[in-house]
Amino acid sequence: MTPKPRGVYVYGNWKMNHGMGETEHFFQELSTTSIGSHLKEAIEEGRVQGALFVNFITLERARALGEKSALTLTVGVQNLHFEKKGAFTGEISGPMVKEIGIDLTLLGHSERRQYFSETDELICKKAESLLTQGFRIVLCVGETRAERERGETLAVLSRQLDACLASSVFREHLDGRVLLAYEPVWAIGTGLTASPAQAQEAHRFLRDFIQTRVTETASQHTPILYGGSVTAETFDELLEQPDIDGGLIGGASLKPQSFFSLLTQGAKASRRAG
Ligand code: PGA
Repeated sequence: MTPKPRGVYVYGNWKMNHGMGETEHFFQELSTTSIGSHLKEAIEEGRVQGALFVNFITLERARALGEKSALTLTVGVQNLHFEKKGAFTGEISGPMVKEIGIDLTLLGHSERRQYFSETDELICKKAESLLTQGFRIVLCVGETRAERERGETLAVLSRQLDACLASSVFREHLDGRVLLAYEPVWAIGTGLTASPAQAQEAHRFLRDFIQTRVTETASQHTPILYGGSVTAETFDELLEQPDIDGGLIGGASLKPQSFFSLLTQGAKASRRAG
C-alpha cells in the first residue's frame, strides 16, 4: 500500500468546453449521483479534493454550483494575467476573479505554451504575482514527444521548474500553495497515457529536484498531479505510484459520470494510506 500523505487531487481541466447550458447540465447530472460513504468521508476529511478549471464565462456560476454540490468542488481558472489591471486588451486579472471567490489557477499549460507562446519567463512572472495575490497555482510542466525521443525529458522538466525556483517568492510558497502537474505533451488528448513507471520517474525527479534546490519539507508539501489522457481505466494504477498525488484530467472530466468515477477512485486511493 502506498501512502498518500498529501491527499489525492482530482482536478478537471475543461479547456474551451462547456458553455453555460452544458455547465448547468453537468452539475445537475452530478447532483443525481448517489455518493457512497467512502467518498463522502474522504471529501469531509479533506483526503480527496475535487476541482474544475472552467472558462471565464461560466466561472461565477460554476463556483456557486461547485460549492453547493455534495462533492464540494472547487472551481479555478485556466489562465490569468500577471498585472492586476491596465491596458491589456482581452486579458483577465487576479483581483477580478478573486472578487467572485476564485483563488485557484492553472499556469503554463502546454496549450498555453504551444498556441499562445507562453515562455518559462512569462509563466514564472505570473506565478510570482499570483502567489503574492494569494492564489494557489497548478504549474504545468512536461516534455514533447520529440524531446522525449531525444532523451531530454528530465532536462526539460528541470528547465521549466528551475525558471520558477529562481524566485524566492515561488520558493516560499512551496508549502502546499504550489501544485505541480506533470503533463507529457505527447500524452495530452492523444489517448496515450504515460505508463505508471514513466510518470513515477518524472514525478520522483520533480520531487527530488525541489528537495535539492529548496528543502525536503518543500518537496514533501508539494502535490504533483499527473495529466495526459487519464481515464477511469488508468487512474488507479497511476495513483498507486508513491509520487503521484492525483490527476489533472481533460477529456475524462467533461462527463459527470466519468469525473465522478475518478473522484471515487481518488477516495479509494486516499484510504489506502490508512
Ligand atoms: P487530457 O488533457 O486528459 O484530455 O489528455 C489533460 C490536460 O491537458 O490537462
